[in-house]
Amino acid sequence: MTPNKMILLLHGPNLNLLGTREPEVYGRETLADINQGCAERAQRFGLGVRAIQSNHEGVLIDSLHEARSWAAGVVFNAGAYTHTSLALRDAISAISLPVIEVHLSNVHKREEFRHHSMMAAVCVGQICGFGWRSYLLGVEALAGHLGLVESR
Ligand code: DQA
Repeated sequence: MTPNKMILLLHGPNLNLLGTREPEVYGRETLADINQGCAERAQRFGLGVRAIQSNHEGVLIDSLHEARSWAAGVVFNAGAYTHTSLALRDAISAISLPVIEVHLSNVHKREEFRHHSMMAAVCVGQICGFGWRSYLLGVEALAGHLGLVESR
């Protein structure tokens, strides 16, 4: 089936290590598992997924800019940049695409420096604490925001 629309699934620093990185915090699923799960969930809404991971802030910014030309929205786990990056926040504001912020862990019950998100105020909403399911919920939230309904 050819997707009606595409979404960007964007992963920030250290998320390439999922599966082995602090599994008690982030789970045992790999990034490939998560990308696959999101692609399957998105398909129910007629959405295709392009997944990009980078450990570099500038690459994440470029990916957001480029998404203007092909994506209907973004599901974004910015990793630690969530808490520090004014540049990513500005990029999200600049692109005028709906962005859903997701986190595997519940950042609000972890260290205080993880409680603040630089980008939350410019995202549609934030989903955190549900492990790999946070991403699936993010895809569903974006599809809902785009007015799409499940086809099965
Ligand atoms: C994270 C939470 C961040 O605080 C952390 O720096 C990460 C992962 C999460 O998905 O729970 O890299 O975004």
